[in-house]
Amino acid sequence: MEIDNDALYHIKNAKCVTILTGAGVSAESGVATFRSYKDETKESLWSQYDPQKMASLEGFLENPNRVWQWYQWRRSELKTKEPNDAHKAIAKWQQSNSQSVTLITQNVDGLHQAGGSQNVTELHGNIWGNHCLQCRTEYKEGVDDIEEVIECPECGGQIRPSVVWFGEALPEHAWRDAESASYSCDLFLSVGTSSQVYPAAGLAALAKSQGATVIEINPEPTESSVVDYCVKGIASKFFLESL
Ligand code: APR
Repeated sequence: MEIDNDALYHIKNAKCVTILTGAGVSAESGVATFRSYKDETKESLWSQYDPQKMASLEGFLENPNRVWQWYQWRRSELKTKEPNDAHKAIAKWQQSNSQSVTLITQNVDGLHQAGGSQNVTELHGNIWGNHCLQCRTEYKEGVDDIEEVIECPECGGQIRPSVVWFGEALPEHAWRDAESASYSCDLFLSVGTSSQVYPAAGLAALAKSQGATVIEINPEPTESSVVDYCVKGIASKFFLESL
């Protein structure tokens, strides 16, 4: 993997690092990404399912059981997945004493935590959580093998997965943490994301605007115009070769 010497210099000498990850970081664990790139072996999710039907409030209201069952299927798939070397390397880097490393993820799979990361800012929620659509009460009961939408024990509303759907606001605290981490870093790594979904995709520009160096790690360069160094390759190899 070609890593520019200047990029390596920034990785080794940055004081304050912010890492934004996307589905590509979990790809090596066998988790399908949302938008495939040419060499990707696994079919991407949005090439098989309509995001408006499966990952929007309108889609849920139109057919709650269809959406619920799709998330139950994704959970069953994820249950068999393990964190990969990229997750583990990021977790180890976060424990570094010489550099402050903040992890922000768009992923909802919990694999960063499983890989040892204690502090993870989850911009799009977490697929293992559920809450009531109407009263927002967290639903803590197990939901394995439940095929129909559950009625909220508090208000009789509909229990939904605690992920952010298209058109929904990001969790305020998560977005605030992500903004502040992007404003205060001197190195911003964008890893395994197509940089197509805002506002997460705008964080690199925030970092760049205050003088951070931006490095993108992706087998396929994205259109992001703020990248200083583009490392063409897979996340695990990048972290194993650069840290
Ligand atoms: N290492 C690094 N990058 C990889 C790897 C890998 N092993 N495999 C694939 N990629 C790259 C792909 O080239 C692609 O650019 O990961 C990116 C994955 O892009 P998406 O599937 O669009 O995932 P992401 O950017 O996280 O999507 C953002 O869109 O649908 C919503 O909520 C969903 O959080 C998701 C958001």
